[in-house]
Amino acid sequence: MRLTSFVIAAVAFLIQGPLLAADGNENISRVDEGRRLAHNFDKGNCLACHSAPTDPQAVTKANIAPPLIGMRVRFGDRHALRDQIWDAAKRNPQTIMPPFGRHMILSDDEIELIIDYLYTL
Ligand code: HEC
Repeated sequence: MRLTSFVIAAVAFLIQGPLLAADGNENISRVDEGRRLAHNFDKGNCLACHSAPTDPQAVTKANIAPPLIGMRVRFGDRHALRDQIWDAAKRNPQTIMPPFGRHMILSDDEIELIIDYLYTL
């Protein structure tokens, strides 16, 4: 199961470049950049715990944390969403979600890009 997910992720990663190039769109949009950061093992790695059911490129089905869905409706306040990602322990001191801003795992700019992506979910 895990191997299958890995293979799907690897194949998706490999075909993504040529597909973008085929579009003739060499400027990666903020949403694409945010998606890359959110999905990247070394950056957000959000999909280790969350699923993103409306994103066909989100190949994991993690269910440790609530699904990232309806984000604009549920987190209309961009500052609240930013705070959640910057330091989830502010809202829940017991949380297992890493404090991405406080621990400097992600820069403020990277968090903003991820929010642009989350608002498409
Ligand atoms: C190690 C697991 C883990 C990782 C990695 C993780 N989260 Fe979380 N996240 C959680 C858990 C657990 C919760 C549930 C609330 C709590 O624990 O306080 C949560 C809650 C949230 C919430 C609030 C969801 C809601 O419905 O209330 C958002 C938004 C969120 N995470 C975004 C992210 C983003 C964006 C990333 C990647 C940058 C990320 N998380 C990475 C575990 C994680």
